[in-house]
Amino acid sequence: MEQYVIKGGVPLSGEVTIGGAKNAALPILAASVMTDETVEIENVPDVRDTQVLMQAIESIGVTVVRTGTNTVKINAARARNHSIENESIKKIRASYYLIGALLGKYKSAGVPLPGGCNIGLRPIDQHIKGFSALGADVDINHGIFTARADRLSGAHIYLDVVSVGATINVMMAAAMAEGKTTIENAAREPHVVDLANFLNSMGASIRGAGTDVIRIKGVQKLHGTRYAIIPDQIEAGTFMMAAAATHGDITIKNVIPKHLESISAKLAEIGCQIRESDDMVRVSATKRLNATHVKTLPYPGFPTDLQPQITTALSLASGISIVTESIFENRFKYVDELTKMGAVIKVEGSTAIVSGREQLTGAQIVAPDLRAGAALVIAGLMAEGISTVSNINYVERGYEDFPGKLRALGAQIEKVEEERELQKFRLKYA
Ligand code: UD1
Repeated sequence: MEQYVIKGGVPLSGEVTIGGAKNAALPILAASVMTDETVEIENVPDVRDTQVLMQAIESIGVTVVRTGTNTVKINAARARNHSIENESIKKIRASYYLIGALLGKYKSAGVPLPGGCNIGLRPIDQHIKGFSALGADVDINHGIFTARADRLSGAHIYLDVVSVGATINVMMAAAMAEGKTTIENAAREPHVVDLANFLNSMGASIRGAGTDVIRIKGVQKLHGTRYAIIPDQIEAGTFMMAAAATHGDITIKNVIPKHLESISAKLAEIGCQIRESDDMVRVSATKRLNATHVKTLPYPGFPTDLQPQITTALSLASGISIVTESIFENRFKYVDELTKMGAVIKVEGSTAIVSGREQLTGAQIVAPDLRAGAALVIAGLMAEGISTVSNINYVERGYEDFPGKLRALGAQIEKVEEERELQKFRLKYA
């Protein structure tokens, strides 16, 4: 069984370079099938989710050439059909981005229903509402989501909830619809803006991404482009939390500080020093963190994808913290694991009440989902003694070389497969 083994107690220090944003890469890779010309994408994170999506695209006859670890060339001129049958695609949430992309280009799409992390109900009613408003017939049969239209026509769409996925999906389909589309109550996340910039670089006409009203003028054809994906806000935020949680001092390079404002502000509030320059942020913590209140919100609020990491850091803060999760209803499953390490956290509905302890102790813990997995690794780094984190396939869905990057900051962490390797680690750090 693959797992991480960690000897905690070392303050992390040094420099780490952040990769491209997974949640921007996924829609951008999907949207690359919307032209017959070649698209070259740089800064693609080499993680499971992007690998699976590229395999799915290849399975319908699209040429995908990895020109480097983080660069890829995609050409969809020979796409054979518009239905994805690749089984592994069910494992990733972003499979549904292929619906918006294929529907926009070919007016027809079929994709197995999305999987991804089990952090709540995750309905797709707003995606369906958007596609239907553009004139598509949408159906779900035997687990396959299909959308078809003789023609797509621009529409005025008000999203009932702020949804990243629905905003992105509707934006892709509308980019090649006839006429004008307005998306109101749109998500404002940096990856929504990055996809809009990417599509515009292919000849689309999208204005207002980054605000809650996006206006799209449909075009008949998109062309090839070369594009570099923005840095990953959540990977950066995870290392910021790791610096705070281990009382370390980390310089996080290749970031857009503006995207990290809600995180920097919260960390400053709990007693960390934050220094920013053009494309880096340095987080250091010299004393015990203070307790605080955190509420997750759509961007520019505090991201739900960093909720497990900050809750973990706060488990050793002085005083009682209140963390409220307002986006997903089932995102505190990792708390049971933290409890095994001595954390004192009580979950009531969508709120976690965290009573800061003096110390966590190493334990055998299981990652329940991607971001919680990263949080539990941080917990292992904070704890006294040795911890193991299993189910690390979740972590590998979204973090490129997480143990390697942590080791470069002084962390004692290894990925092991066999009991023998685990014992070796134990002996080394006993
Ligand atoms: C994306 C991110 C995920 C992040 C989340 C919120 C990707 C691949 N995933 O997920 O990492 O945690 O944004 O920032 O980018 N909802 C509906 N109906 C819908 C769609 C969503 O009710 O049709 C609800 C969801 O249940 C949730 C809220 O809207 O409560 C936000 O979800 P959404 O922004 O769509 O999240 P994802 O796109 O799935």
